[in-house]
Parts: sequence; structure tokens; C-alpha cells
Amino acid sequence: MSVKTVRKLDGYDRTLVCPPDKSVSIRAVILGAYAVGRTTVRNVSLCADVLTAVDCMRRLGASITLDGSTAYITGAPFRGAKLDCGNSATVARLLTGLLSGLNGVFELTGDESLLRRPMSRVTEPLSAMGACIKDTDGRLPLTVTGAPLKGIDYVLPVPSAQVKSALLLAGLNADGRTRVCETVATRDHTENLLAAMNGKISMDGNAVVVERSVVYSSDIDVAGDVSSAAYPICAALCIGGECTLQNVGTNKTRTGIFDVLERIGADISFVERRGGPEPICDVTVRGGRALRPIMIDKTYVARVIDEIPVLCALACFIDGTSVIDGADELRVKECDRIKAAVSALRALGADITETPHGMIVCGGKPLSFGTVDPCGDHRIAMAAAVAGCAGNGAAIKDAECVAVSYPEFFKEVTDIG
Ligand code: S3P
Repeated sequence: MSVKTVRKLDGYDRTLVCPPDKSVSIRAVILGAYAVGRTTVRNVSLCADVLTAVDCMRRLGASITLDGSTAYITGAPFRGAKLDCGNSATVARLLTGLLSGLNGVFELTGDESLLRRPMSRVTEPLSAMGACIKDTDGRLPLTVTGAPLKGIDYVLPVPSAQVKSALLLAGLNADGRTRVCETVATRDHTENLLAAMNGKISMDGNAVVVERSVVYSSDIDVAGDVSSAAYPICAALCIGGECTLQNVGTNKTRTGIFDVLERIGADISFVERRGGPEPICDVTVRGGRALRPIMIDKTYVARVIDEIPVLCALACFIDGTSVIDGADELRVKECDRIKAAVSALRALGADITETPHGMIVCGGKPLSFGTVDPCGDHRIAMAAAVAGCAGNGAAIKDAECVAVSYPEFFKEVTDIG
């Protein structure tokens, strides 16, 4: 466990290339490995969660060569395997869905954090499709024994792209139509990739419908990860200065953070770039303006779920009371992110209080230097580091956990090696 000490930064003028999107990279690796033919994934993320996906797909029989930030993937019929999904619920949940309708016995496990996370949200609807899954009290480890599946009509009880994706991937090998209805839109990267890879996928109002399909290889360009861009963007807003993030993926299911920032009066501008299947922009923020407090309720949470910890860090520097509500899903992320964000920012002197469904931040008060335990959670570590850079420094324990999504974070965003 290494400790990284970030210091107070006095200005935040910089241009960064946004690191590649983790969600898209994981899906591209999984679908490339499953597809017929050879898939090339350019600008693939080399973060720990994506390397976990690469390892799992190799164990299932695919051939994957990483050459810098390009992955060459040759699909193969999967064989039974033991798969360690590490810290990644996306890998565990998507694979549970995909493997349910294939021949073989597949054992899935994960790290200490992943073993605590709910899998019943995918195993229950998959079982209704005919999947044969033996889990451990609704969690990992679990064993999937491939079985014949039939499509179902399912309304997501909680907004979750991982659950939606697990069912869509199972639907590729199910009889009939698999229809997943969402009342709140979640990220649609699986749908976009399936459409580009010959999947029979369509929209029916606010439902996604998939039918049995053969998935073919494709060339995939991964855009930058807006969830990673959120850290330097919020740093510039807290500290002051002008910060440009190049190549940010601006799929509208992911850009809730920009809507929040515009609503509170942030100076933020976008220059569109030629995108791939998903839109891309260069995003510039200029700090120094007085911002209004942040208000997020449950109608909004899904589009900004991963950015809430860093928005809490930003809220510490905004005069007035910011309120995050309806964010119960944060309690079942890599850790309980409501508790962890509150205790991390309190360790830096912030006036932040846990509520049953979120948190309340009374901002505009000076922060002090402190030591933060991020509970092994990359997004808590990075949010606390941003607060430290804008406040009075911070010592971040277990700092290597940022590699889960943003391995170069400390160097690029906080100026330490
Ligand atoms: C993800 C979906 C979200 C998000 C997670 C990545 C994905 O989780 O929080 O970081 O890649 O599908 P849920 O599906 O649990 O909301």
C-alpha cells in the first residue's frame, strides 16, 4: 500500500489527452473475443479493469495481442474456464450474461470488493431466461453452466447499464426476443457496439430489443473517458485556470457531469471532433467564476453516478449547500461511496454529512491537510486528491488503486510522480 502526498496547486492551466474509456474498452475486448473474425480496438484503455477483461477473454480461448494502445483480438469458441474478474463488476456482470447461453462451465470470482457486490440483479433475470447459475448468497463466486435460453421482457428495477448489458448479451443466444426496458436511460455502449458488429438490436420506445445473432468482428476506436476527464475538469474549476481535455467521449448517456457544471454556472466549452460511432469533443473549462451549489436528485443520478465523488470535492469549494439525493446506488459500488466520500473529504476538513440517500456539502470553508483512506476505491482516491490539490494538500493511502481506471492520474492530474 503506497501513500501519495499531493500538494496545493496554485493554478491549473493545462491540456491533457483524455484517457480512453474504460466501459467501452471492456465491452470492445469482450465482444471482440466473442466475435467471429479479427477485431482491432484502437485507443484501448490499459487500466486494470480492462486488463482483467483481457485476461478473462484469453482464459476463455481468445487470442489477444496488445501493441501499445491497440488490441488485436481473434475470437474463438469459448471453453470452460475459471475467471478472476478482479475489481470489475462490469466484467463479472457482462460475462455472467454472455456465458449463460454458451456451452461450458464457467467459474467467476473477484477481489474482496467485488465479492461484496450484488450479483442477484443479473442472476435473477438471467435465471428467468433459463440460465443455470449457482451463486454465493446473491454474490460471487458463482458458476455458470451454459443452458438453452429464452428471451424475456424485463423492466430494470434500478437503472444499471451492467444489468441491461448482461441481459442483451445473453439475448444473443436466446430463443425469441429479449426486451430490456429502462425508465431512466443508462449508458448505451453495448447497444452501439452490438449494432456495429451485426447484432440484431433495435429500440422499441425506451426498451432495447435483441434477437439471436452472430456477432462479427469490427474495427473499434475508443473515445476518451468522460468519467476520467471529470477529475482535471473539477480541479480547474476549484483551483482556477484553463484546462482542456482532448478527445472526450460525449455520448449523451454519459455527459450528465457537463449538464451539472453548466447548471451551476461553470465556464465550459466544446469543440466537436470527428467521432467514431460515438461523439467526441475537446472540452475546455475556465475556473475562477463563482459557482452555484450542486443539486442532484434521483432523476439525474444515473447520468452522473461515477462522477458524484469528485462533484462532492468540487462542492467543498462552492459557497452554499450542495445536496446529492437519490444516490443509493453509490452504496453498492467498489465500496459504499456515500460513506467513503464523506469520510475522505471530512479527513480534509470538509463540512460534509452523510444522508440516507446521498450527502450534503456546506462549501466555501477552508480545507486542511489530512490523510485519506479511499477504502481501495479509485474514484474516492481521485476525488480526495482533487480536493487536496485545491485545498491544502492530502496524503492518499492505497494510492495505487487509481490504476483501476486511470493509471496516470497522479502524474497527469496532480503533478506528482
Ligand atoms: C458501468 C455502469 C455503471 C457504472 C460503472 C460502469 C458500465 O454501473 O457505475 O462504473 O460499464 O456498464 P451500474 O450498471 O451498476 O450502474
